[in-house]
Amino acid sequence: MARRLRYDIPGPDRRVSIEDVQAKGWEEIFAPDLQPPLRMVLEIGFGRGEFLQALAEASPEVSHVGVEVSWKRVLKMARRLARMDLTNVRLVHGPGESVVAAAISPASLEAVWINFSDPWPKERHHRRRLIQPALVAALAERLVTGGVLHVATDDVDYAEHIDAVLAAEARLQNLWAPARWRPEVPGRPPTAYEREWRAEGRPLHFWAYQRRALAEAARGPAGAALRADCPFGVDEPKRLP
Ligand SMILES: C[S@@+](CC[C@H](N)C(=O)[O-])C[C@H]1O[C@@H](n2cnc3c(N)ncnc32)[C@H](O)[C@@H]1O
Repeated sequence: MARRLRYDIPGPDRRVSIEDVQAKGWEEIFAPDLQPPLRMVLEIGFGRGEFLQALAEASPEVSHVGVEVSWKRVLKMARRLARMDLTNVRLVHGPGESVVAAAISPASLEAVWINFSDPWPKERHHRRRLIQPALVAALAERLVTGGVLHVATDDVDYAEHIDAVLAAEARLQNLWAPARWRPEVPGRPPTAYEREWRAEGRPLHFWAYQRRALAEAARGPAGAALRADCPFGVDEPKRLP
């Protein structure tokens, strides 16, 4: 028999709406758990949330925002977080594209993770794919200089699409060039979907694209800073031009 969904949140409710963010701002939303200036990391499409949890546990001083379009997944993750002492995570229900546009400021993110987003294999559905030039451009604008956009897929056709979209965004540079992507990233915890695809023997593709310095940002010390302490998968951040 299917288990009934439980709606109660057995502890602090870490869910916030776009309207909450617009009214209060992230600093108030993370207070008193984290002190400004906030360092922020975003995961879009966190699914069961185990990767978001691993990120947050690895960097307790960093604020983590998880965005998910599935209301049920947000509820389940909110219930899990309520039972845990993990105070540096907040969840937003909604499409990543809308949340990024409405609730994330330019130059505010140290890292963005998009793991195994739906590949939508039929050609007539390709426009539903999450990785699109407009979202990647919006994320490039919202990353701090030196911040990194991480993307993963198991789907060979979607991999070509992702690679073309990332390579076309002039504000980002491929940290693993001349390789187009990596088939493995040592030390990276697997997501729930990744475990399934690995068990099926599918080829995996991982990207890490770093936000380039703007000419004026490169002159200042903050602009030149590299986020070398980002966990999982940025082993050798490049010197920025
Ligand atoms: C294939 S699952 C991968 C989940 C997880 N990242 C993993 O690797 O196990 C894709 C997830 O992205 C979510 N999703 C799809 N479109 C989205 C969007 N536009 N914004 C945010 N989440 C989205 C889905 O609800 C689903 O949880």
